[in-house]
Amino acid sequence: MSVPNIELNDGHSIPQLGFGVFQIDPAQTAEAVREALKVGYRHIDTAEMYGNERGVGEAIQDSGLDRDEVYVTSKLNNGFHRPDDARAAFDRTLAELGFEYVDLFLIHWPLPTLYDGDFVSTWKTLEEFRHDRRARSIGVSNFQVEHLERLAAETDTVPAVNQIELHPYLLNEEVRAYNRAHGIATEAWSPIAQGEVLDDAVITEIAGRAGRTPAQVVLRWHIARGNIVFPKSVTPERIRENFELFDFELEPADAERIAGLDRGEAGRTGPNPEEFAYMPS
Ligand SMILES: NC(=O)c1ccc[n+]([C@@H]2O[C@H](COP(=O)([O-])OP(=O)(O)OC[C@H]3O[C@@H](n4cnc5c(N)ncnc54)[C@H](OP(=O)(O)O)[C@@H]3O)[C@@H](O)[C@H]2O)c1
Repeated sequence: MSVPNIELNDGHSIPQLGFGVFQIDPAQTAEAVREALKVGYRHIDTAEMYGNERGVGEAIQDSGLDRDEVYVTSKLNNGFHRPDDARAAFDRTLAELGFEYVDLFLIHWPLPTLYDGDFVSTWKTLEEFRHDRRARSIGVSNFQVEHLERLAAETDTVPAVNQIELHPYLLNEEVRAYNRAHGIATEAWSPIAQGEVLDDAVITEIAGRAGRTPAQVVLRWHIARGNIVFPKSVTPERIRENFELFDFELEPADAERIAGLDRGEAGRTGPNPEEFAYMPS
């Protein structure tokens, strides 16, 4: 089963399906990532905020795979947006992972109510990391259209990706349309809404007819829409199940019914990026 690659605007490419490690206990992370690599995942999404970069690096190093066979993303934590702090935080991310580079480094949240609303100097600092090739690609996460417009007006680099909450209950279509129009790849976080969409009658009915699980139906729907996804699981059967997406397709009418589940803002399960101002202690 081969995972398609998505071409990014900087010449690099990213496997469309990966493995997310948010909320995996640091002590369990290496084991979960080892399992994912065994199944065939070659793209891992972590963040400094998750506290488990070390486990990700350990599993990849133990796997016998070459570093360039696994695509690794990490993200800048909210407390380190000032340029000098971002430089030190990025050094720590590489040290925790045990790597000389990451494939993709993101600003985790725009934090428009903090740092006098200045995420632009943070972005210019990420440009340095790309320039010295310690981050092969750079991007953002949770950026709304106005934040992306500001980067476009004030900096030279269009983010390679924008990682946003996106699942059948929150299509996030305005941001996705902006991404698409500007060559920014859309990554969908919480692609199954942390399990919340799996009991939906529309999803279970389609799954029953397709002879697939609800999670497979939703993940396949994302893939067909061009979204990059990295479902999280610590359960070996689910890790395998979530990878088995490339030997079936959804009927167009079913894909439309899933898109019709959109609840707009009411469907958001995570924080609103306009307001989110969490600072790690
Ligand atoms: N940039 C951001 O701000 C941001 C925010 C959130 C997430 N993310 C990224 O996106 C990744 C995925 O999002 P997420 O972890 O929030 O949620 P998710 O992948 O939508 O859902 C994970 C939850 O669903 C369960 N699950 C997984 N596969 C399943 C299956 N086949 N059947 C039934 N249940 C299943 C998992 O349980 P078990 O683990 O118990 O099996 C876990 O509770 C994260 O790990 C992280 O890398 C980024």
